[in-house]
Amino acid sequence: MASLAGEGAATLRKIFVLVLILVNLAQTGRAQDEREFRLQVDAELEASGLMAYLLPRFALKTGRRAELVPSEADLMINPAGNEGHAIMARGDRTFALVMVTTNSAAVKFADWLASDIGQTAIAAFTPAEGLSFSRAPQETAVVTITFEGDARLGEALAENHCGRCHRVRADRSGMGIGSTPSFRALRALADWDERFLAFYALNPHPAFLRVEDISPPFDPAFPPAIHPVELSQTEVEAIQAYAAGLEPADLGAPVSNN
Ligand code: HEC
Repeated sequence: MASLAGEGAATLRKIFVLVLILVNLAQTGRAQDEREFRLQVDAELEASGLMAYLLPRFALKTGRRAELVPSEADLMINPAGNEGHAIMARGDRTFALVMVTTNSAAVKFADWLASDIGQTAIAAFTPAEGLSFSRAPQETAVVTITFEGDARLGEALAENHCGRCHRVRADRSGMGIGSTPSFRALRALADWDERFLAFYALNPHPAFLRVEDISPPFDPAFPPAIHPVELSQTEVEAIQAYAAGLEPADLGAPVSNN
């Protein structure tokens, strides 16, 4: 009896959990299909009439409407600063989209503006006064990576662990064993920082080198053929800082990497 009652309770609990999941799904479903969103735009944009031109076109296409608001928006279009994606330009001013919430209608509008159709609509609009708008300027991604480890510790670690194959010291460039590039030669490559950021994931290193809490364990089926290297994240940062401080090798002609 007791066990039957227990089973009954368990079944009820399962049903209850199922109902919770369904209610959740229904709510998420609704949340994913909003018809309206709040849009805040820069005063110049609003005055230009661009929004009055774009929004009805977007609404016609998608059935989604925007309400222009002075604050608490789901999506903002502002003069480009540090946040958002450049979406259009006027003269030398660039405007950027900034998503504030996950309102699905706002996301749709952002996608539409960035699409060819949206960008064509932006360029097709002729303001009553002033310059026309143009496509978003190509964003050039400039990523600077800075390494902040202990470069002195890095030098010792690099000589110990990397020096088996690479020439690592500041007074040595050229190749180490075989065609293994020296650190200074690597340092001369435009994307040296990305290479040093990820070296432990790039071949041949994963076969013999692990970084604590980052690398997967060695595959027992393929144990390292040479003495394995295990580094902590602090040690990796130290090596990166050491590499950052090396003078790039003078490789003459621009390096091409295949
Ligand atoms: C067993 C030999 C060996 C050891 C030890 C070794 N490397 Fe390498 N490393 C190589 C070889 C070979 C390449 C060239 C791979 C290629 O060109 O595909 C390389 C390439 C690199 C690159 C360029 C990565 C790329 O794909 O462009 C970096 C950065 C690097 N090593 C850093 C290190 C550091 C840091 C250590 C020490 C913690 C180290 N290596 C230890 C053999 C080694």
